[in-house]
Amino acid sequence: MEDCRVTECTRCPALVDSRSRIVNGTGPTDADLLFVGEGPGANEDEQGEPFVGRSGTVLDDALRTAGLDRIDVRITNCVRCRPPENRDPTTEELENCRGYLEREIAAVDPEVVVTLGKVPSEHLLERSVAVTKEAGSLEEVRIDGMPRRVLLCVHPAATLYDRSQEETFEDAIRQAAELAGISESEGGQSRLDGF
Ligand code: URA
Repeated sequence: MEDCRVTECTRCPALVDSRSRIVNGTGPTDADLLFVGEGPGANEDEQGEPFVGRSGTVLDDALRTAGLDRIDVRITNCVRCRPPENRDPTTEELENCRGYLEREIAAVDPEVVVTLGKVPSEHLLERSVAVTKEAGSLEEVRIDGMPRRVLLCVHPAATLYDRSQEETFEDAIRQAAELAGISESEGGQSRLDGF
């Protein structure tokens, strides 16, 4: 499989200044589910792994509720370097990092790409998205010329600010597991692999 790790990049001057490292995707390179967040925060920048802070705990909990574990899924971000003061990545920064994301999506070739929040949803769908309203909808979009199934989901941090989004978030994660043919069982996780 093509290596989709980025080890050197200086395309975005503001991000080069604010990052302490490039944060690559983690998880199996043949995962059925690929989660795409916005960009690394302080914890991710420190530890070099996506979604390891509070948002990561929310994601891990929802995965577990859906019968999955973090090690079963691939997790990455639209941009791989921490934006200053946790601001949103600019359009230019998103474009600079787009090729790396496309390469990762092509390499993993997941059953479903799950967008965590407004930024990755709009980036991959190339339109405005009202993510709270549209969470749980599945769209087929061309990414680098290939048709991909994209499931929209709110950002895990949204559940921390607004409890009413917890159910929306958990439902979308459960739906992602079902779509990918990975389902919960009473005894814990099980892979049905289409059976
Ligand atoms: N939020 C994101 O969008 N990505 C991370 O890796 C962490 C928090």
